[in-house]
Amino acid sequence: MENKRRDFLKTACAPVVFSMFGVSMLEACSSGDDDGYGTNSPSGSEDTSDDTDADNSISIDLSSSNFSDIKEVGGWMNYTAQKMLLLRISDSEIRAFSNICPHAGANNQWSHNNSEFTCGNHNRSFNDDCSGSGLKLTCYTTKIEDNTLTVTR
Ligand code: FES
Repeated sequence: MENKRRDFLKTACAPVVFSMFGVSMLEACSSGDDDGYGTNSPSGSEDTSDDTDADNSISIDLSSSNFSDIKEVGGWMNYTAQKMLLLRISDSEIRAFSNICPHAGANNQWSHNNSEFTCGNHNRSFNDDCSGSGLKLTCYTTKIEDNTLTVTR
């Protein structure tokens, strides 16, 4: 009987033994992963996808004089720095398109009339609402908030 008790004391976790004597030593049984940052700590890699999304968006300050052409409904401009056509539809909507002509890639001969953009390189026209069949301008998602236009490509 005495040998069995000695063997038990040798192999049992110390806190269990201590608890038998009314001593709470739960911390003593931990394995070193008790710093509070184990497998539940957040992974930094999840944040990078947000950065990638942000890279696909650009913000435009509509109060800048660079964008005076799209202040009025019906106004449009070729925003060559970002390779896009911008078209004011209403106070709350501006459409954005790639300025790369779907016909042969020209980007600097655009005009706009009667709900169509026309590329002067070969005089092809494209609807300004991305509808229709065949060749179309590439359309982007836009949002206006507090005089800032956000275009997501
Ligand atoms: S490149 Fe635009 S119409 Fe041909």
